[in-house]
Amino acid sequence: MMVDKNYVLVTGGAGFIGSHTVVELIENGMVPVIVDDFRNSNTKMLEGIQKIVGSEVLFHNVDIGNKEGLSLIFGQYNFSGIIHFAADKAVGESVSLPLKYYKNNLGGLINCLECALEFSVDNFIFSSSCTVYGDPDGSTTVTEITPQKEPNSPYGATKQMGERILEDVVKSGAALKVLNLRYFNPIGAHESGNIGELPIGKPNNLLPYVTQTAAGVLEKLTVFGKDYDTPDGTCIRDYIHVVDLAKAHVSGLKWIGNQTGTTVEIVNVGTGKGTSVLEIIHTFEKVSGKQLNWEFGERREGDVEQIFADVTKAKHLIDWEAQKSMENAVIDAWNWEQNLRND
Ligand code: UD1
Repeated sequence: MMVDKNYVLVTGGAGFIGSHTVVELIENGMVPVIVDDFRNSNTKMLEGIQKIVGSEVLFHNVDIGNKEGLSLIFGQYNFSGIIHFAADKAVGESVSLPLKYYKNNLGGLINCLECALEFSVDNFIFSSSCTVYGDPDGSTTVTEITPQKEPNSPYGATKQMGERILEDVVKSGAALKVLNLRYFNPIGAHESGNIGELPIGKPNNLLPYVTQTAAGVLEKLTVFGKDYDTPDGTCIRDYIHVVDLAKAHVSGLKWIGNQTGTTVEIVNVGTGKGTSVLEIIHTFEKVSGKQLNWEFGERREGDVEQIFADVTKAKHLIDWEAQKSMENAVIDAWNWEQNLRND
């Protein structure tokens, strides 16, 4: 077994948030070990990471649904912690294929947890989501103790259930320290342009839809709804630069590593600022100098009118706050899209 280095298991490490986190871990002296089966990513991301950090990254092409394969990896490294990203994340698809989501998202988490306990790895960060709040009534700023609503989709249910599973395992007395990071809307790309979001097929999320439309890959962006009760009538979200989000994992690992005994904490990871769909479009047009082809369409089923994070706890508990602006994120996303098209 290799014990000399600070190995951190990163499931889904070739994905959008995973790849940026791997870069930040390396830049902070840790040695990430990526486990990814590329079902929703590409080996291009590994090449991009390697270009940025200037060295090889450790990775295993294994499905986390394969418990035996996962166990072999745990046996090979002495992990100091686990960051568990690997999951399916398309809200709409989860409505039509719920079993896929329950099986992959919950089965994968359970396999990782069983291995963590078996191999005594006690630091665990879980990729949760603001989707666990459902459609919040009253205030649109949510804190970690804002009561959760019925999830809007099976995807949302897997995130609520994932947090619950972790809480129950800690309550059972298992030697485990858990940090649930509830991500708001990650956008942007690494400023080098070497890694970014790589949607397979037609994107579901706003920013890749915007950049692919501007690049001529897609014809037109539809803005879902114009009659919401918001200043410009379009939905409001808390868009966070993916590199800021990646850094929250480094801060989270440092914090969790300093805890003694068992613990389970929840932290919102956002900027605390809300931005509408139209504001995103206008920012994109300003920074790219391109006119975007877009039109208003019907509301998208299941969309929340507005939600953004109260980020006080992140600052106090894990000493992290977002640094980059939304404009920064849009510039980096556009730069990445152009690099992709030039390849
Ligand atoms: C949702 C979940 C989030 C989850 C993410 C995964 C909520 C509140 N958020 O994000 O937790 O991690 O999915 O994919 O449940 N839009 C358009 N046109 C488009 C695409 C999007 O107008 O073509 C609008 C949407 O209506 C929304 C905003 O852009 O107002 C952001 O949408 P999207 O990027 O899909 O993210 P969420 O739905 O907020």
